[in-house]
Amino acid sequence: MNSLTNKNIILGVSGSISAYKAPDIVRRLQDLGAQVKVILTEGGAKFITELSLQSISKNKVHYNLWDEDAELSMGHIELAKWTDAILIAPASANTIANIALGKANDLLSSVILASNAALLIAPAMNLKMYQSHALQDNLLTLISRHAIIIKPESGEQACGDIGIGRLVEPLSIAKQVAKQFISTKLTGKKVLITLGATIEAIDPVRFISNHSSGKMGMALINACIEMGASVICIYGNITTTLNEKSNNMPIISAQQMYTKVMNNIAGQDIFIACAAVSDFSVKNTKNQKIKKDGKNLILELIPNKDILADVCKLGKKPICMGFAAETQNTLKNAQKKLKNKGCDVIILNDVSNTDFGSNVDENEVVFLSQNLNKKIAKNSKKKVAKKILAIFIKEYL
Ligand SMILES: Cc1cc2nc3c(=O)[nH]c(=O)nc-3n(C[C@H](O)[C@H](O)[C@H](O)COP(=O)(O)O)c2cc1C
Repeated sequence: MNSLTNKNIILGVSGSISAYKAPDIVRRLQDLGAQVKVILTEGGAKFITELSLQSISKNKVHYNLWDEDAELSMGHIELAKWTDAILIAPASANTIANIALGKANDLLSSVILASNAALLIAPAMNLKMYQSHALQDNLLTLISRHAIIIKPESGEQACGDIGIGRLVEPLSIAKQVAKQFISTKLTGKKVLITLGATIEAIDPVRFISNHSSGKMGMALINACIEMGASVICIYGNITTTLNEKSNNMPIISAQQMYTKVMNNIAGQDIFIACAAVSDFSVKNTKNQKIKKDGKNLILELIPNKDILADVCKLGKKPICMGFAAETQNTLKNAQKKLKNKGCDVIILNDVSNTDFGSNVDENEVVFLSQNLNKKIAKNSKKKVAKKILAIFIKEYL
């Protein structure tokens, strides 16, 4: 399945009569899961309004290289870094010539020069213009630089001539963009991941929490996104950076995480419970700071609801992967967790060894399911995440 889930696409719209099809191209790219930002050339702006493209793309339309606000943060470089592919559709003969010459005299050509992303060009013009030696030479130059040309179709043209030069249909253009990205068995899957530590209040200034950093969960999120999954990230206290391509939802307590998961789990294909959720919360959280009075303080803790177990009990449950952080009888405890919670996979984390596990960059885990008991040797959390997902995909997708 070709998909543009998690992909950022720049659509360059240049001065061709077929620029009226640009909003439809934006739609088709979005249908495949892409975020689209439009760059309108000077010629393009004569044929289609900024307003239509902004309304459809739901993003500001960029057209001015000399935009002082955008250039405060080097707008053209930002756009070049943001995009995963640049599509020019329609591509006018003039814009094609500009790019073939390697010019940087407008925003679109500057972004193209500043980007390593795939470049796709969909020419649209009168057949004589298209067949001209100059245009064909320019296309060959661009092909030699690995640009992909979406060859125009034949038919009746706006000028009345009949022949090659008509812009390819928007859906077909969008599909060709999607083909540039490798699809995996996770492509298009919906994954909900919890990560980080929950915080249970004792009073307004004190709390019970744990050492989880969220790094393992974030490594899984990044890997899922790279493989084309659409990810909901429900996170507690973390010391790592969020991925802006996931739908990020913060929570504080275990109860809040429970509610957020239950409100968002419907329709998810996979649930990965990587958060270190507090098993207990304080029974009578105080509204005012507790004062010391020389006596012992006894806190009564009540058990929290078990998120993973309750998701596993859902009628239409996703494939569930839980994490078990254990310090003793690790394998036995993890196997017990697998059985008692009714989940599909448990990733066992032996946190008695401080070289890996919580709050560090490396991990060593065991992938446990009914049929499998596979050790994933110590490595960066990024690599461990990829190995976990590779086994998971092989076993379940
Ligand atoms: C009515 C009209 C229609 C045009 N249609 C096309 C076209 O389909 N393809 C093309 O390459 N140029 C077409 N042109 C010429 C371009 O708009 C012109 O070369 C312009 O400078 C391109 O600007 P740009 O490269 O900044 O987009 C057309 C011009 C006019 C006036």
